[in-house]
Amino acid sequence: MSRRPIDVAVVGATGAVGREMLRVLEQRGSPVQRLVLLASSRSAGRTLRFRGRDLTVRPTTRDSFRGVDVALFSAGVAVSRQFAACAVESGAVVVDNSSAFRLQPGVPLVVPECNTEALAGHRGIVANPNCSTIILALALAPLQRIAGLKQVIVSTYQAASGAGRRAMEELRSATRAHLSGAGFEPSAMPHDLAFNVFPQVDVFQPDGYTREEDKMVDEMRKILALPALPLEATCVRVPVERCHGMAVTVALQRPLSPARARFALEHSPGIVVCDDPEAAEYPTPRAMAGLDPVAVGRIRPSRVFDPGLTLWVVGDQLRKGAALNAVQIVENLSNLRTRSGARVEDSVRPGAE
Ligand code: A2P
Repeated sequence: MSRRPIDVAVVGATGAVGREMLRVLEQRGSPVQRLVLLASSRSAGRTLRFRGRDLTVRPTTRDSFRGVDVALFSAGVAVSRQFAACAVESGAVVVDNSSAFRLQPGVPLVVPECNTEALAGHRGIVANPNCSTIILALALAPLQRIAGLKQVIVSTYQAASGAGRRAMEELRSATRAHLSGAGFEPSAMPHDLAFNVFPQVDVFQPDGYTREEDKMVDEMRKILALPALPLEATCVRVPVERCHGMAVTVALQRPLSPARARFALEHSPGIVVCDDPEAAEYPTPRAMAGLDPVAVGRIRPSRVFDPGLTLWVVGDQLRKGAALNAVQIVENLSNLRTRSGARVEDSVRPGAE
């Protein structure tokens, strides 16, 4: 990041990702001069702490972005569609964590360790990928570079945090209710997640896949610049607070031993390898909660694809899967716009999801 002081707005500051954004900005010593906390009118007047000070949350309006250099959006598709263009017109660069613009041509979809070059020539909006996509992309990009990906099959084990702050609270209340023998009616997720798993993340599409599963396919193809990559995902919600796990099998273009894959992954930025099955060492969501890297373990030859590998990947959904990746995008932006009357290009106007 340029060390020039910048004015930052966080839209959705009271949410699970928004709060993590504040933590990441503080922990990384980002050169934030002024921080504007925005949410819905329900949260107006609440305070959140940043660098030891209580800052007041304000409702998001068209005027909220005056003087703002960078606007981090994490308040869902509708809010991004309503306000991202205003932010750009006010001169801010928007890093958007919703799915509103991710697949639009001309909007970079960026995981800095994988495709930072895509940032060049952004037109005011940069999209932060889906959380599962970011975590998986970190593990796939090195394998693509050295052995070429032919096909990918992934089953996810996704934490409650991916469904937002209310879902995280719901998992705790549901767990308490079950332990005390009381009933529980879920409202933030389609089922009660306590002592349970369910194979639904986001809504179902007519072909029987969920939108989350589609996002993983479409976004991965864009990030890795492999527009025809066959990728099959089954996304499952599990009673974990904030880290996603993934069982991944890849068919490769060229042979790659587990040892070479381990070496390549260990030397890739943003990844740690934790792979000693005999000592029961492999990444777990509890061990990775709150940490920045994506962890990979159980790297072994596929029994189905030759050449191919199977691995286990875990990453903190709120950190690398969302807030950290967004802040890293800001750190990699060389052409931060200032208040020079930047125009929103047609291609980044809110459109179809
Ligand atoms: P609020 O707390 O005022 O509802 P999560 O994904 O964790 O549920 O968080 C969603 C975030 O999006 C929250 O900060 C929430 O604010 C914010 N949000 C929801 N609706 C709006 C809206 N209409 N305008 C601005 N922010 C919104």
